[in-house]
Amino acid sequence: MNKKTIRDIDLTGKRVLIRVDFNVPVKDGAVTDDTRVRAAIPTLKAILEQKPRYMALMSHLGRPKGEVKPEFSLRPVVPVLAELLGVDVAFAEDCVGDAARQAAEALPEGGVLLLENTRFHAEETKNDEAFAKQLAELGDVYVNDAFGSAHRAHASTEGVTRYLPAVGGFLMEKELDYLVNAVESPKKPFVAILGGAKVSDKIGVIESLLTKCDRLLIGGGMANTFFKAQGWAVGDSLVEDDAIETAKKLLETGSSKLLLPDEVVIADAFDNDANTQVIAIKDGVPDGWRILDISPGAVEAFREVLKDAQTIIWNGPMGVFEMDNFAKGTYQIAEILAESSATTIIGGGDSAAAVKKAGLSDRMSHISTGGGASLELLEGKALPGVVALQDRD
Ligand code: 3PG
Repeated sequence: MNKKTIRDIDLTGKRVLIRVDFNVPVKDGAVTDDTRVRAAIPTLKAILEQKPRYMALMSHLGRPKGEVKPEFSLRPVVPVLAELLGVDVAFAEDCVGDAARQAAEALPEGGVLLLENTRFHAEETKNDEAFAKQLAELGDVYVNDAFGSAHRAHASTEGVTRYLPAVGGFLMEKELDYLVNAVESPKKPFVAILGGAKVSDKIGVIESLLTKCDRLLIGGGMANTFFKAQGWAVGDSLVEDDAIETAKKLLETGSSKLLLPDEVVIADAFDNDANTQVIAIKDGVPDGWRILDISPGAVEAFREVLKDAQTIIWNGPMGVFEMDNFAKGTYQIAEILAESSATTIIGGGDSAAAVKKAGLSDRMSHISTGGGASLELLEGKALPGVVALQDRD
């Protein structure tokens, strides 16, 4: 990455204000997936080795919309972070004002403080200047390691950089290196796989990837809109009628690169125990039935394309993988990637969750911690949280 990192700046004795993405799932007051906390640990340990005065960590959790809502508190992250970092972690009830300042000042040399959810203040998402300045008062230096939030121009990701020297952390660097290299200078053949429910979320990504990849495989709910665009009956499947014209255009411009499943698994109810059958999509889906997965035959066709790939990017599941009976297509694609010698990059969100559920996380080259952020990068957009960091000389 062409931005400064914590390697380029002296943090000894400094008050280091760090933006992390600890937007983690919490159930009954406990963190149920600590992946994002783990991902920040190399940066946090490296900063501690530089013997700062202290580290103050800020993050959002969920979308509390500017109100203090206990279910969105970052407090449950404290024991997880303390365990992973191997040091005590203090907690401040607010991310600005007296509570934050006093908690920071009370820290021992090299202490660690987690600030309460930045989105408890409406000013955070408005990127309010005065609020950004208040956050900045907690640090001498700002480090952004929150790749998952880098597509947001918020006070804690962008505004704060107007008041402090701003550099990136190791997670930010690693994410950008993998994702930017993959789209800018991929080892060829470069194959992208897109899935998930909605085409409308991914039109920009499809257009951008079509200019860069050798093949683009499409599965999941979004394939239904492409099926309908070709005049095939989709029964009761989820379809975005508003996106059909766009799908038609993409099918024209991308005809040599796009590959859709030729067979699908259909079910007579949106239920794991529904009756199922495999059909050729050209035969049409009967009324009362809906497409819930790609078929074993479609997986084989995808395998054939993927076998020579040198770079593979995957974003979005191939079916309703939350239901075991419709998770097979998604897991088989995960297996193919795990066995591939290509550089394999998994976009965040559902595909990352599927790979984890399949127990194959260790066998991928890179699993992104950012869903929206990685999609925006693949779309070729600049991320405000990255743009705002200091350039490397
Ligand atoms: C994410 O989970 O993708 C990031 O933490 C960003 O969250 P947001 O979409 O609520 O801004």
